[in-house]
Amino acid sequence: MTQPFSTKIGIIGGGQLGKMLIESAKPWNVEFNILEASKDCPCFEYASTFIEGSLMDAEKIKELASISDVITYEIEHVGVETLKFLESNGTVVIPSGAILEVIQDKGLQKQFYLDNNLATSPFVIIDSSEASTIGLDRFPGNRVVVKSCTGGYDGKGVSIMSKSDIAEGNVPAVFNGQVVLENYVPDVTELSVIVARNAAGDIRSFPIVEMVFDPEINLVDYLFAPSTVANDIKDDANTLSIKAIEALKGVGIFAVELFLTQEGEILINEIAPRPHNSGHHTIEANYTSQYEQLMRIMLNMPLGETDLITPAVMTNIIGSENVTGAYTLDGLQDLMATKGAYLHWYNKSVTKPGRKMGHFTVLDSDLDAAVKKSHDLKKKLKTQPR
Ligand SMILES: Nc1ncnc2c1ncn2[C@@H]1O[C@H](COP(=O)(O)OP(=O)(O)OP(=O)(O)O)[C@@H](O)[C@H]1O
Ligand SMILES: [Mg+2]
Repeated sequence: MTQPFSTKIGIIGGGQLGKMLIESAKPWNVEFNILEASKDCPCFEYASTFIEGSLMDAEKIKELASISDVITYEIEHVGVETLKFLESNGTVVIPSGAILEVIQDKGLQKQFYLDNNLATSPFVIIDSSEASTIGLDRFPGNRVVVKSCTGGYDGKGVSIMSKSDIAEGNVPAVFNGQVVLENYVPDVTELSVIVARNAAGDIRSFPIVEMVFDPEINLVDYLFAPSTVANDIKDDANTLSIKAIEALKGVGIFAVELFLTQEGEILINEIAPRPHNSGHHTIEANYTSQYEQLMRIMLNMPLGETDLITPAVMTNIIGSENVTGAYTLDGLQDLMATKGAYLHWYNKSVTKPGRKMGHFTVLDSDLDAAVKKSHDLKKKLKTQPR
């Protein structure tokens, strides 16, 4: 039987983003190969060929490339030098290694925004041991954000500190090496725009979403679309996000994380070169999901329509405090009984506090009703020791 889609996709990383990417292409029978450190990962069962190995291992990445037509990644911490080497030998990598190299280093990323006149909060890049010696008065307010240039994810590697703590040299040991010190933006509204750009330069963004963060763990608590910010802010956020991806000459899917300040200024916080937590709701709520859009780009198909069909709220299901290891989930019956609620379970064999175990999306023509349903469900959905 002839398959319409014969392109084989290689994904570096076997986590939930990879799983949802594969799920988006299930109706098309696309073949996927996966590289991940352990078979105990969300993508294992979906792989045509599973390569067990470090995401930094040049030989393993080359092995993946040798059996795939296009390479992508679902996490930033991968061997970027190998990606660049493969590209120089004709392998298609989406997004390119050069882009990932800028994004992997928060210092290079901030400098890129500055060089391209893309609004971002003021910053300096220093060695963490010098933090106490720099002129902190360049940052208004009492707090400064310290970010490890490399290696951070899900808020780990980010610390909001008082100026006095920094002046006394109390920058945590985790911040060994280069750090970005940036202005703490108080009372921000966090927005995200997912932008798709294909090899022909066609560009299309998804309707802006608003994120609500859990301040304890710096992880997204829930997000909703459409955002309730004013239309001119939405337009400005969209324009800035598209400008950023055009400046990057990015091919792929990008999540542009934005801060809306109390003064109405829109700043780029960071860009993720992959499907993103803030786009999970697009699976059910938009004509084309962020995952399908990336597939379309990798398969050389036209970009899909990104409009929102109905308001949506997406909530992460996070591993409960004090539960580590095998688990069960409370509240499943309630979730499955709720009209418009959709569960995505990531198939992780063990839980730990703060780990993303799954998410659910609630659709409702009335956004407030969707928020309320989501809050009620979130209270009930708890991982418990098995
Ligand atoms: N300059 C800032 N002012 C105020 N809050 C900030 C600032 N920088 C970061 N934060 C807060 O910390 C969160 C995490 O920061 P950032 O996105 O830079 O780190 P990350 O580890 O890459 O996060 P993730 O992987 O979750 O996107 C932000 O979403 C925001 O809530
Ligand atoms: Mg972030």
